[in-house]
Amino acid sequence: MAVVIAVANQKGGVGKSTTAVNLAAALGKRGKKVLCIDSDAQGNLTSGFGIKKKSLEFTVYDALLGRKTLSDVIIPTDFKNVSIVPATSDLAGADIELIELENRQSRLKMQILTVKADFDYIFIDCPPSLSLLTVNALCASDTVIIPLQCEFHALEGLSQLVESIKLVKLRFNPNIDIEGILFTMYDGRLQLTHQVVNEVKKHFPTKTFETIIPRNVRLSEAPSYGMPCVYYDKNSKGAQSYESLADEIAANHKPRKILSA
Ligand SMILES: Nc1ncnc2c1ncn2[C@@H]1O[C@H](COP(=O)(O)OP(=O)(O)O)[C@@H](O)[C@H]1O
Ligand SMILES: [Mg+2]
Repeated sequence: MAVVIAVANQKGGVGKSTTAVNLAAALGKRGKKVLCIDSDAQGNLTSGFGIKKKSLEFTVYDALLGRKTLSDVIIPTDFKNVSIVPATSDLAGADIELIELENRQSRLKMQILTVKADFDYIFIDCPPSLSLLTVNALCASDTVIIPLQCEFHALEGLSQLVESIKLVKLRFNPNIDIEGILFTMYDGRLQLTHQVVNEVKKHFPTKTFETIIPRNVRLSEAPSYGMPCVYYDKNSKGAQSYESLADEIAANHKPRKILSA
């Protein structure tokens, strides 16, 4: 059974899609079967795997509205063991359309349940908002990765997101947990960076990943080649940091030993 992990932060440009693409690819390299679900109308996860949006017949939008099943809209990527449910700008209207529908917050969850046995990890790349699409992702997920850029307003946004996760936990998904807070685009030369890291660690001592993602130009170049950075330049600092994050996550989700008599 797959562990379902949402990558969420209502702020844009903090490294959500970069994290989803590289983590999925790194775990795929290790022999894990991975599904990525793009739940952002910008479709950065989709293009990050080199998938041409114009070529797509069906997307996550069709599955959310119930016109297609999730397995109908899964396509393979060129990267080992990684499949994707793509998104295009169609998804922009979904938030409003979902309001009218039954079980509007659990539509993605229902769909994921039908494929959960086929994968080891399912990552959901969330949009930069606390909209119904993000609520759908949180309802469907076992855990959440929160990428955080070390800047002045980061903490404010973080407490808002944590409140939303608590609400979802209370109302819809009692087992949801925070997988970890991930510091991204880290620049150790900046004083503010250290302050933010220390402050977050003080509030969430057990919830920050040991791995820190540095600011690295290779990570920002890779999407224009339609490749995860862990393939584009596997020796770069950026790629190596995502490899070590993959190790950390794999260690958190070791398959349970089945006790023999
Ligand atoms: N660690 C990093 N170093 C340098 N650039 C990065 C890093 N992480 C992400 N980027 C770049 O920053 C931009 C925003 O990242 P992205 O992952 O798309 O954020 P989000 O999905 O949260 O909006 C993208 O252009 C991406 O390539
Ligand atoms: Mg994104």
